[in-house]
Amino acid sequence: MTICIDMGTSRICALVSGKGVVINEPNLAAIDSYTGEILAFGDALENVKGRNPASFTVQSSVENGRIVKYDLCEKILKFIINRLCGERVFRPDIRITTHSGTDDLEERVLRDMLKSCGARSCEILSEGYCAAMGAGAGYTDKAGTCVLNIGAGKTDFALVAGGELISSLEVPFGGNLITQAVQNFAREKKLCEISFDEAEKLKLQLGSAMPSESDIAFTVSGKDTQSSLPRLCEISNTELFSVVTECLTPFTKELRSAFELIPPEFAEDIDKRGVILTGGCSNLSGISKYLSYALELDTVLTPEPGLCAVKGLDRSKIRGGLFKAGRHS
Ligand SMILES: Nc1ncnc2c1ncn2[C@@H]1O[C@H](COP(=O)(O)OP(=O)(O)OP(=O)(O)O)[C@@H](O)[C@H]1O
Ligand SMILES: [Mg+2]
Repeated sequence: MTICIDMGTSRICALVSGKGVVINEPNLAAIDSYTGEILAFGDALENVKGRNPASFTVQSSVENGRIVKYDLCEKILKFIINRLCGERVFRPDIRITTHSGTDDLEERVLRDMLKSCGARSCEILSEGYCAAMGAGAGYTDKAGTCVLNIGAGKTDFALVAGGELISSLEVPFGGNLITQAVQNFAREKKLCEISFDEAEKLKLQLGSAMPSESDIAFTVSGKDTQSSLPRLCEISNTELFSVVTECLTPFTKELRSAFELIPPEFAEDIDKRGVILTGGCSNLSGISKYLSYALELDTVLTPEPGLCAVKGLDRSKIRGGLFKAGRHS
């Protein structure tokens, strides 16, 4: 049994080879404050963070695409592997994504962790590479495929040709930055303190990278910054549009410099094929059009962009010792 796992800043996706995606849930775990054991995981914890009683905490092990709590990460991986393997006698082969800047030490720690979770073998692949493979980059296709994987905590920029990673870079931008900017806007301009979850709701409902012809407003609950009393906060799509574009302007500047990495031999391929958009934040309304305009290149939105990386893990061939794209042990 081969299990592919994409541990993201906001979501965790797992796929069983031959079966398809079996887990696509928030990357959150409820930890018993006394025993340290996992009480609940994923979907069960949506809207619980910050509202939990003292008997448990709701935690995530990944920040900005990086594992920051290794003990917790190991518990979550064990929980998932047990859930998927049940009473099976044979140990699973595990494939997992990691951020593009992963060094040897981080990779060794991850490999040891997977072994102690019961993996028979493990393959560690960079998320940008996997996103490109999941978006359809082929092994026999020698032309370059350029992918942006825009997640919650970071964006992977990757160029893949012939099933090999040519170059990759991580850009410090993700959907969480937009959500935090919405929170800041509510605090500073509307004098209302709103939770991350409420700001996320606003972003998902009305957030857009393109201006809208009609004016629509959405109301969320918050706390008055002066009186601290609960009150409603109304934000319009026009206001959200300016918040979103303020976040996207520095992002496109960094993306433009990421293109310096691309060897001139691939320039024509990218000009012809455009840039493929993957990652959950590619679902943001108008982002494809915005980036196409800002980068002066065509952009192609993939179906189910948040699942490209885990699907790409499944499509990747195991090739021991391959630098950057992954190592097998
Ligand atoms: N319709 C939508 N509009 C705007 N943003 C969206 C939409 N759907 C998902 N997102 C955003 O996509 C992000 C999640 O994407 P994804 O699951 O690819 O991230 P991740 O893999 O958890 O993070 P990372 O790869 O950065 O570690 C969140 O910030 C979420 O708000
Ligand atoms: Mg991701």
